[in-house]
Formats: sequence, C-alpha cells, structure tokens
Amino acid sequence: MKIEFFNVQRLFNIHLTLIGIFIDLHTPIVNMRIVRNVNLKPYNTFGIDVKAKFFVEVDSIKNLEKLATSKEFETEKKLVLGGGSNILFTENFDGLVIKINLKGISCEAISESQTLVSAAAGEVWHDLVLFTINKGLSGLENLSLIPGCVGASPIQNIGAYGVEVKDTIHSVEAFNIRTGKTDRFSTEQCRFGYRDSIFKNESKNKYIITQVNFVLSSVQSINTSYGAIEQELQQMGIDKPTIKEVSEAVCSIRNSKLPNPKIIGNAGSFFKNPVIKNEQLNELREIYPTIISYKVDQAHAKLAAGWMIEQCGWKGKTVGNCGVHSKQSLVLINHGNATGKEVLDLSEQIIQSVKEKFNVTLEREVNIL
Ligand code: FAD
Ligand code: EPU
Repeated sequence: MKIEFFNVQRLFNIHLTLIGIFIDLHTPIVNMRIVRNVNLKPYNTFGIDVKAKFFVEVDSIKNLEKLATSKEFETEKKLVLGGGSNILFTENFDGLVIKINLKGISCEAISESQTLVSAAAGEVWHDLVLFTINKGLSGLENLSLIPGCVGASPIQNIGAYGVEVKDTIHSVEAFNIRTGKTDRFSTEQCRFGYRDSIFKNESKNKYIITQVNFVLSSVQSINTSYGAIEQELQQMGIDKPTIKEVSEAVCSIRNSKLPNPKIIGNAGSFFKNPVIKNEQLNELREIYPTIISYKVDQAHAKLAAGWMIEQCGWKGKTVGNCGVHSKQSLVLINHGNATGKEVLDLSEQIIQSVKEKFNVTLEREVNIL
C-alpha cells in the first residue's frame, strides 16, 4: 500500500516512515488536555458566543481511547465537533465538547481505474478535495469549498452541484462510544439519503467518526449536469473542462452567492429543500406557475426552499441582530451579536410564513443545540 502524506505538518510522520517505523493515519502529535469553561465562538461558523463546560481536542485514536476512560467522558453529555459549520448553539453547552483533530490522508490504487482514498476525520474537507484533484482523481470536485471537516461529511451526506458524498464513500470508520471499539460502516449500512444518514438517526450520539474511505476514479469523469456549472464554464470560456476547472467553476459560483463565514456568521442552508408528492406540486403550480422544483422519483419532487422564502418577502431582511442573506434566502446570517435563540426564532417565523403561503413545512438542516 502506498501512503502519501499531504502537507508539511506531516514531516514528523514522513520522518518516521523513512526510518521504517509503521505508523497509522493518526499518530499522536499534541498532548491532550480537558479544559473547563471554554468560549465556543471561534469553534462555530455562526459565531455564536456560548461556552462549553468542558472542552478537549483529540488528535489520535490512542488519545480518543484514553479520553473514553476519563470521568468527564463517562459522566458528561458529549458533543463531537468538526469545523462547527452546521450547528447553531442556543445556549451554553453543559457537557464535554470533543473537537476532532485526527489528521492524515492516504491513497491506494485498487484497480486501473479506481483509487481508495482514506482521510482522517479532522482533515479540512476542502483540503481533501484539493488533494484528490492534484492527484487527478475525480469524484469530489463538485463538492469543492464546502466548509467543515471530513468526519462530518457522511453525517448529513453533504451535497452540492449535482453530487452527494455518498456517491464516492466506500466506508466510514467510527469509534463506538459504548464499546470503545472502532466499527466500520459500509455505504449500505450508512443508509444515506438527502441530507441524511444513520448518524442522524439510530446511531446519533453513539459514534465518533474517525475516518472516511472514498473510492475515486483515476479516469477523468466529470459531472456538469447542474445548470449553474455549465453557465459558469461557458463564462470562463471552457467547453471541455478538467476536474480542476470544474472545481474552480463551483468555487466561483459558491463565492458569488454564499456568505464567507469568516466575514458573516452563518451555517450554509438553514433549511432542507422539502420533498413533496407530485399531486401537491401540480396544485402549487396552478397558483405559482414559476415555482422551482426538481424530480426526485416517479411520485415525488423537491422544491427550492430558497425560492419560497424569497416569495414570502424574507430575502435580505434583517431582524434584530440576525437576518436572511441577500443573495440566498436559505442562508440565515448573524449580523454580529446574534444569540442562537434569535436565529432560531427567525427560522420559526420563516417556517410559519412558508407554511401559510405554500402549505409546505420546512425542516431545519442545521443541528440545533
Ligand atoms: P460540525 O458543524 O462540527 O458538526 C455537524 C454535526 O456533525 C454535529 O451534529 C456534530 O456533532 C457532528 N459531527 C461532526 N464531526 C463528527 C465526527 N467526527 N463524529 C461524529 N459526529 C460528528 N453542506 C452541504 O451539504 N452542502 C453545501 O453546499 C454546504 N454549503 C455550506 C456553505 C456554508 C457557507 C456553510 C457555513 C456551510 C455549508 N454546508 C453545506 C454545511 C456544512 O458545511 C456541512 O454540513 C459540513 O459537513 C459540516 O462539517 P463540520 O465539520 O463543520 O461539522
Ligand atoms: N433561489 C431563489 N431565491 C433564493 C435562493 C435560491 O429563487 O433566495 C432559486 C435559485 O435561483 C435556483 C434554485 O432556487 O433556481 C436553487 O438554488 P441554488 O442552486 O442556490 O441551490 P439551493 O437549492 O438553494 C442547495 C443546497 C446547497 C448547495 C446548493 C448547490 C440544500 C438545503 N441546499 O441549495 O447546500 O450548495 O444546492 O447544489 O439542499 C447547505 O446544505 O448548506 C448548502 C449550501
């Protein structure tokens, strides 16, 4: 098996490899310390100012196993944190926050056309995407620039621009909180759906994802079926794009409509696009002929929630310290000093007005804590 380490932070690991010592993807680098009363503002992209009773950063499986024997792990409520880009804190976290910093990416050719890429949970998602593009491996380029870490990617089955991460996942490795052992989930066992998986349902709060394994194509195959990508590529003057160019087009579209969380606090789409029956869609079309929908299967369609929220007059609105983004109504934003409760209240008002106008119930995508 060929192991390739990704950046200079791994010089330590490479050095050990050169002198012939076997190491896994999670060699400990930093000591672990459980800290009390930690401000979580830097750890959530909404920028909500709350505290954790206990906070710990974990950078190796050995440290995770060690942590599992601690009093705090055994007795406190736990929250596993990646990049904090899909959560809304509505109050202080009265328990132990476990920030996953496991690092490492490895590649192994498994056939002439397929490569298995294994990435530790704490790797930054977009860094993994760039790594695969640089290796000429296709599959993740449409998912460029999604914030957060690898470990969270299977949880809501991240998706964008015509691709969901389930399309490339081979398996997910997760630390079982009850047994202290690592279990491996096949793609079928993950029960992926639209913004959904077993980790949001039966297995919620039972596992800490430590590694995700992907099967990527070493033969270039691109997917530009999502309309906006074709348009962007045309504007870039490209008609036969490489995976790098598809990634650049996706980044450019995202930068044009989604707020950068480093500047404006947000967690991406606050709501899911609702899936409804075709009969209901036909009724809605009679009243709203321009309603935006996508076919899901023979009997169901997905509605563009952003369009409905805009039709309700919310686009660009400010309510107290928070509001609705001016370029994408699915995204709620923190104007600086919003509390999680304010954002949650705003989301409730939006749900009610969409229900009144369209008789469709929006479901939140963001994890509320
Ligand atoms: P966190 O927010 O840290 O955690 C999310 C949930 O996963 C929490 O419940 C947490 O407890 C759990 N969790 C995290 N890591 C682990 C682990 N290792 N083991 C067990 N549980 C864990 N999402 C999309 O799907 N498509 C998009 O196009 C998209 N665009 C976005 C754009 C912006 C500007 C922003 C801010 C967000 C966007 N998102 C999008 C949402 C978000 O980036 C993804 O959901 C991402 O996967 C969250 O990763 P994270 O590491 O930040 O997770
Ligand atoms: N639209 C409006 N008004 C708006 C927002 C959107 O009319 O305020 C229309 C657009 O013009 C377009 C359609 O709605 O015709 C869809 O918009 P867009 O392509 O921006 O995608 P989306 O359905 O709003 C979903 C995901 C995003 C993902 C994009 C691109 C969900 C909940 N959201 O948004 O994911 O990046 O598609 O594939 O499925 C996230 O999950 O956090 C996220 C950002």
